[in-house]
Amino acid sequence: MIREELRKLIWKAVNEEVSFERPENPEHGDYSTNIALVLAKKQGKDPRQVAETLVSSLDRRGLDFLGKVEVAGPGFINFFLSRKYFLKVLSSIAKEKEKYGSGKERKRIIVEYSSPNIAKPFGVGHLRSTLIGQALYNLYKFLGYECIGINYPGDWGTPHGKILYQLSEKLLKGKSEKERKEILKSLTPQDLEKLYVGFHEEAQQDPTMEEEARIWFKKLEMKDKEARMIWEHIRRVSMEEFERIYSFLDVHIDYLIGESFFEGKMKEVVEDFKKKGLAHESHGAFIVPFPGEALPPAMLLKTDGATTYFTRDLANMKYRIQRWKPDIIAIETGNEQILHFKQVFSASKLIGYATKEKLVHVFHGLYRTQEGKFSTRKGQTVHLEEVLREAIEKASAIIGQSETARGLSPEEKEKVARAIGIGGMKYNDLIQHPSGDIIFDWAKILNLKGNSAAYIQYTFARCRSILKKAEAMPRNAGDAYEFSKEETEIIRTLNAFPEVARDAAERFSPNLVANFVFDLAQKYNLFYGTHSVLQAETKEAKEFRLFLTQAVAQVIKNSLSLLGIQTPERM
Ligand code: ARG
Repeated sequence: MIREELRKLIWKAVNEEVSFERPENPEHGDYSTNIALVLAKKQGKDPRQVAETLVSSLDRRGLDFLGKVEVAGPGFINFFLSRKYFLKVLSSIAKEKEKYGSGKERKRIIVEYSSPNIAKPFGVGHLRSTLIGQALYNLYKFLGYECIGINYPGDWGTPHGKILYQLSEKLLKGKSEKERKEILKSLTPQDLEKLYVGFHEEAQQDPTMEEEARIWFKKLEMKDKEARMIWEHIRRVSMEEFERIYSFLDVHIDYLIGESFFEGKMKEVVEDFKKKGLAHESHGAFIVPFPGEALPPAMLLKTDGATTYFTRDLANMKYRIQRWKPDIIAIETGNEQILHFKQVFSASKLIGYATKEKLVHVFHGLYRTQEGKFSTRKGQTVHLEEVLREAIEKASAIIGQSETARGLSPEEKEKVARAIGIGGMKYNDLIQHPSGDIIFDWAKILNLKGNSAAYIQYTFARCRSILKKAEAMPRNAGDAYEFSKEETEIIRTLNAFPEVARDAAERFSPNLVANFVFDLAQKYNLFYGTHSVLQAETKEAKEFRLFLTQAVAQVIKNSLSLLGIQTPERM
């Protein structure tokens, strides 16, 4: 990567670590650094002077990627890439294809994502976790990491007592064995939702219900046969719904290891903390304090001896680290769990489960409509499956009006509609930094002319259509052609892709990739508006532009695939 080479170059000259920018304006070079300004300040010297001296002392031998190096403004150093290197970028893309930008990092990362709660509908929050988590997984895999994807659904804990109570009281009570079997077999996610919402409404009138729910959960924990059997059904119904959503989203998570998996592993955790004297009793509960840290204590055992979400997460950390020995563990959830993960990570280090591992909580903001909140608490939850279906329908309507999609078969059209509809939903999420809120607006999600997946997919299809019409593909970009401003802009952008992918992974920010690919598509369309590819002025120009078009199509595809978005050939 170029910025690594430049870093070494400066290091050799002044023994300083520097970072580089890729200036927006091509007149400021392809890379730029303010190192001379920093050094001048330290040494009390004139920054331009420092920059000039630095530039003249650079050892440029063997660096044929480098064109001119300029001192600009108050003392910036701007590096321009050579023409020869630009041509090399294009041939690397042609050669490496879907591997262009990838890496050979020999490390291991666990990415935990999605993790919906059973007996509740799969909400938009879990959609965000699924999309962001999958993009991070894809990114790390692309960089060469061994990735372990884990789905950790909430299938344990006191809330499950509520649904158990409801089911047995409202649906199963007084029914024969045969009827009960029937009821459980034909249970739907909607039934579960109704019961769950019903519980909260009724419990306001009748506070004893909370106690009943607690008893039901206790039964579940004590392996009561009846409780266990009902719970299995609830779990099955929910998981079937989640699987439908994953298949809509084209998401596959390597492991399904839910909270209930840690049921038998929590005693050990409590023992570990006891032994090391890192937890103590407080008002009948058992808590972990964080001395010297601005964190409130966390609860390992409740007053009734029941374990908590926190206890399960510690068992979880211990298990994951022992089993996989990862370099990084990244967990994606909503931002309401920030404190929880601070406690979990701190406690894992205190007790020694985690030592050198990098523990990262990637958190996301809310999903909102322009008017406000996307869902309301009392039963009007937005059903994700419906939203996804609607996205596909709306995309279908767009394709119905498209000239270029005319020759597609109904099956192909259906596939393309999925790619655009679901791609639009994914992109709308991933274009934002995870921590930000998302505004849900169909007009934006499916806007063929704006910052949307459809716009980028359309650019890809345009490239592919040009390439298909060309009678022969050139084997290389050709040396003789003088590229234009618009073409130079595209190559500069293509060159940045490997660096963008690394930054996006390192900062857990898939939005960097989304921004990048939108920028690339815009630059290609700008070029396309000013230059003709198939009717180019000269043979050299035509060959170069075809080669460039092929590279753009490839890098759009590589970028979108990191975001889990498909690139149909026609639309
Ligand atoms: N099921 C949880 C929720 O929906 C998310 C799980 C997050 N992961 C974890 N290791 N606690 O709130």
